[in-house]
Amino acid sequence: MNQDQLKQLVGRAALDYVTPGQVLGVGTGSTVDCFIDALAASGIAIPGAVSSSERSTQRLLKHGIKVLDATEVTALAVYIDGADEIDGKGFMVKGGGAALTREKIVADLAEKFVCIADESKLVATLGKFPLPVEIIPMAAAQLTRHFAKLGGDAKLRAGVVTDNGGHILDVTGLAITDPLAFEAEVSQWPGVVTVGVFARHKAQVCLLGGAGGVKTLTF
Ligand code: A5P
Repeated sequence: MNQDQLKQLVGRAALDYVTPGQVLGVGTGSTVDCFIDALAASGIAIPGAVSSSERSTQRLLKHGIKVLDATEVTALAVYIDGADEIDGKGFMVKGGGAALTREKIVADLAEKFVCIADESKLVATLGKFPLPVEIIPMAAAQLTRHFAKLGGDAKLRAGVVTDNGGHILDVTGLAITDPLAFEAEVSQWPGVVTVGVFARHKAQVCLLGGAGGVKTLTF
């Protein structure tokens, strides 16, 4: 199976976590696109979804699935999203699609984060994938210096403005051995909107697609 087929496989597998009649949190990315298509094809009736990006909102609406504003819900049972990296504890790096801020906001509303990914995303230590960080533009140079002190090389993602009007730094050269401490530290640097380490909002379940089918990891 190629990577696209694995994404479709885990997208379909995630339907097991959708409860008819219950509002769902929906993430962003090519794997989530497969999930949204599978959800539409399944005929499972949900009152609506809280979306983490304009991209997912457009896809949900195209399929006739209602999109609710995050301010309209007090809690979600389940949030389904992809990841750029996930480790053996359910800690993740996210934001390759620049939607990390809204993803963390919707994940914060949810009781359970279900990650859908192909097996290439499973890593021993987070940090090989360039870490996305949404920032306020005027802080870019100072934040680049802060990351350099941690051994990271931060580059502004050219031509990208997020759904929130922010910019993205992609940071290479990091080995994130303590994701909770790293997220707590970087999140308090002035000018950081959201760091793409999801440790406080880690996955409880990961549906991992590989040659042998879908493995369910629980954390
Ligand atoms: C979007 O900002 C990201 O967090 C995605 O969830 C992540 O990049 C995974 O995307 P793919 O499913 O396209 O690999």
